[in-house]
Formats: sequence, C-alpha cells, structure tokens
Amino acid sequence: MRTQVAIIGAGPAGLFLAHLLARAGVDAVVLERRTRDYVEGRVRAGVLEQGTVALMERLGLDARLRAEGLVHTGTNLAYDGEIFRIDMAALTGGSAVTVYGQQEVMRDLFDAAESRGVRIVFEAEDLRLDGLTGDRPSVAFTRNGVAQSLACDFVAACDGFHGVGRASIPADVLKVYERVYPFGWLGILAEVPPVNHELIYANHAHGFALASMRSPTRSRYYVQVGLDERIEDWSDERFWDEVETRLGPQASAGLVRGPSFEKSIAPLRSFVAEPMRYGRLFLAGDAAHIVPPTGAKGMNLAVSDVAMLAEALTLHYAERDASGLDGYSARALARVWKAERFSWWFTGLTHRFPDMDAFARRMQVAELAYIRGSKAAQTAIAENYVGLPMGFGGEPSNR
Ligand code: APR
Ligand code: PHB
Repeated sequence: MRTQVAIIGAGPAGLFLAHLLARAGVDAVVLERRTRDYVEGRVRAGVLEQGTVALMERLGLDARLRAEGLVHTGTNLAYDGEIFRIDMAALTGGSAVTVYGQQEVMRDLFDAAESRGVRIVFEAEDLRLDGLTGDRPSVAFTRNGVAQSLACDFVAACDGFHGVGRASIPADVLKVYERVYPFGWLGILAEVPPVNHELIYANHAHGFALASMRSPTRSRYYVQVGLDERIEDWSDERFWDEVETRLGPQASAGLVRGPSFEKSIAPLRSFVAEPMRYGRLFLAGDAAHIVPPTGAKGMNLAVSDVAMLAEALTLHYAERDASGLDGYSARALARVWKAERFSWWFTGLTHRFPDMDAFARRMQVAELAYIRGSKAAQTAIAENYVGLPMGFGGEPSNR
C-alpha cells in the first residue's frame, strides 16, 4: 500500500486532518487501532471554540452542529455561594462557544468519511514507524493477523498520549514539560435538564465542581476528587449532594437530579513535548500535548494543530514549498503554550490543592473577587475561553 500522508489514529486530530487533506486533494490513509464504535463511544468534553465551528463549516460538516449545538455567549463562575456571569460575546466583539459533544463531532466526521474519500483502516495493530529520518518512511502494522506495510511521504502521529508517534522520537531529541495534578475529575452524564442554560465553574471549600450539558435534556456534571477515590464509593446520591453543595445555593437552585448513565474518573495533567516534528514525522493533538479539562481546550487544540499541519502539507504538494512544514512545530507550539497556560491557570483558580494553606486560599478568593469586578480580567478569560485565533485562512495567529 502507498499513500502521501499516513495518519496514525482516528480521534479528532486524525479525522480532521484526513478530511482537510481530502479536501485539498492530498492522498492520505488513516490507521486506527480500535473500531469505529470504540472511538466514537468515548465520552469527552463538548465545548467547541469558534475556530473549531468554523473548520466544521469549511468542511461542509456543520449542518447538525448548527441545528443541535447550543451557542453559549457567556459562562459562569461560582464561589462563596454566589455566581457571576462572564459575558463572552460582549467582551470579545461577538464571539461565543458551541456546546456539541465530541462524540457528535466524531459521528459527523465518520459519517462523511466515505463520501469524501477519507480512507480509514480500523483495527490496525502492532503499528511500527520506519525510516522517519530518510525520504521513504513507512508504517508496518498487522490486520486480522496479516502483516502489512504502508509506504508514504509523511507520517502524521495523531495517536493520542499513549501512541507510537511520540515514542518513535529519540529521547535526546524530545523535551518534555509536565505537571501532574494531585486530583481528578469524577464526571457523570444524566438524562436531566441542565441546572443553568450556560456552564458553571465552581470553586468551593470541598473542591471544584462543573455544571455542563450535552443538550436541553442531557446534563454533564463533574466534581474534583482525590486520586485515591474509587468510583464504587460514589453513589448517584452522594454525587448529587456534592454537586449541590459545591455549586452553592444560588447556582444549584432548580438542580434536577436523576440516575447517571455514565460515571468515570479522569486524572488531570498538563504536558507538552517539543518539537512536534522529527524528520518526516509530525505530531498533532494529544500525541504532543495534554491539557487539564478546565476550559475544555483538548479537542480544540487538536483542531488548531491539524489545521496548521494540513495547510503546511497542502503547500508542500501544491507548490513544492517546504516552509510550512519547516515552520509547523514552532507555529503549533506557540498556540499550544497559550492554551496550556490558560488551562493551567483556570485549574489553579478553581480547584482545591492538598497543600493549600490559608494564605493560598485567600489569594484564590481574592482573585475570584477581582475577576468578578474587573472588565479587564473578564475580557482575558473570555478571549481565551472562546479560543485564541487558530491562524488558518489568513487569520492573524496572535503571536
Ligand atoms: N496505532 C493505531 N492507532 C492508535 C495507536 C496505535 N499504536 N495508538 C493510539 N491510537 C489511536 C487511539 O485508539 C485513538 O483513537 O489514536 C487515537 C487518538 O485519539 P485521541 O486520544 O482522541 O487523541 P486526539 O485525536 O489527539 O484528540 C485530542 O480529543 O479525545 C480527545 O482527550 C482528547 O481532548 C483530546 C482531543
Ligand atoms: C464537558 O461538558 O464535558 C466539559 C465542559 C467544560 C469543560 C470541561 C468539560 O471545561
């Protein structure tokens, strides 16, 4: 088998890249270890930045998103029993986010794959990358027990945090930056109407809580928990009690409880690997970086990476111009670090850290009080939350 670009992984990074390349007439094959059902079934965040929505539109895949997505022009912070709203649209000249589950995005991308000529090989196992520093790289894998090889010009590793892409880069080439947080998020999905028409991020003495949603009838809630917590110890009743306490009386007024149909604990991590290129291998999405979920930047960051990578690959094939590929790592990382900063900062503002003393706690409350009263501080949150420019299509990239 031969293609121009071998894409490893059919998560958001891999599938968006495959669609962008198909649209540009660049030949690509996606190799995914799992099945479509498995990939599509993973419950992840659901807040799309305006750039992600714009990209779905550019691909002509925004019909369902426009019909079913919930446009949020503001977001809310709760602390000390009270709640205040950040009017993102007013502070950013009209920008907003769209609540539309990652699972829905994946469904739209998978559904359109065949008609757009996006080729995906599922259940590609034991993947190995060869010849990355030469000019004839290849990907070896097995499918149904049969060994296969995909020859290509470039490899795009969109294979997530535990993939083979980053692991194929020699340790002395790669510089890794990491922060592991001393807590996780326990999240549930429930078929109940959301407590509020927009999201609420709450800082409480017991820890962080988030009220989110998937639709007007489906809610997503999270509470910060210790890393030693076990899911079996969290009955729905205990979870709802904790959400209500942490949101506080004002924010939790009208909270509708119901049985959860999904419940899981996820650890929080900040991580960046530099550079995002090694020879003919390019990293994109979680393969290169992880953000804590506070602010919902994970998928949006994967989208901005692959928008830049697709542009660079297209330039290479259309004009034999390597400048995009040469500049990809630096350009992507410039945006990655800003999203890392915001996600890290927003986590610090809203979570309870085990080593926090009384002074640190007062500083957190003082910062929340400052944000509440400051248009400048709210503007800084708003412009990050709706998403810094993705830098595609001639848009300035906020360097
Ligand atoms: N061979 C083939 N496929 C692989 C391999 C491998 N060795 N390793 C991983 N994969 C696949 C995974 O099965 C997964 O479907 O790569 C895909 C990576 O997808 P994600 O982990 O979702 O990563 P990414 O596309 O970068 O998504 C970024 O979306 O899923 C969220 O938390 C994620 O918010 C982040 C964003
Ligand atoms: C979600 O709805 O799952 C969600 C929303 C906002 C976040 C994180 C997760 O910051």
